[in-house]
Amino acid sequence: MSAETAQAPAATPFERVGGHAAMRAITDRFYDLMDQDPAFAELRAIHAADLSEMREQLPLFLAGWAGGPRDWFEANPGKCMMSAHGGIPITSDTAGQWADAMTRAIAEVEVADREIAEAMADVLGRMAKGMARG
Ligand code: HEM
Repeated sequence: MSAETAQAPAATPFERVGGHAAMRAITDRFYDLMDQDPAFAELRAIHAADLSEMREQLPLFLAGWAGGPRDWFEANPGKCMMSAHGGIPITSDTAGQWADAMTRAIAEVEVADREIAEAMADVLGRMAKGMARG
């Protein structure tokens, strides 16, 4: 392709959804829901009492996963999110709660591109359900 016909690279899902601010807003809403809504009590119970580290790590993971800055992946070389959850007792109920909380969080926060945000919720929900072993 000549220089004249070369196109700018397509925006990543990370950029389209609204960058770090959107990832942080989604994560904060997700853990607020987990903390406050009894529908997610079972999911909340398997997490640590203090979610502040998770509020730092999840947006960084989501950023790299969605094609943005890869800080989380560089800090955790070779770490696979599916196997990182291998020691956690995830049932179809709690995986469903994770997927529901993420879907609601994404629906409730302001994002730059609703369509890509919903696609993200869908794929994350499938990943969560894929982690269930009971
Ligand atoms: C796409 C799905 C998921 C993603 C992207 C995700 C992401 C993460 C991240 C980034 C961490 C921080 C630990 C680390 O950096 O290694 C973590 C930890 C954890 N995740 Fe997930 N997770 C997912 C699904 C689930 C599901 C379905 C459950 C339970 C039903 C779950 C329960 C936990 C627990 C209990 C921890 C340990 C944190 C603590 O001790 O509080 N995760 N997850």
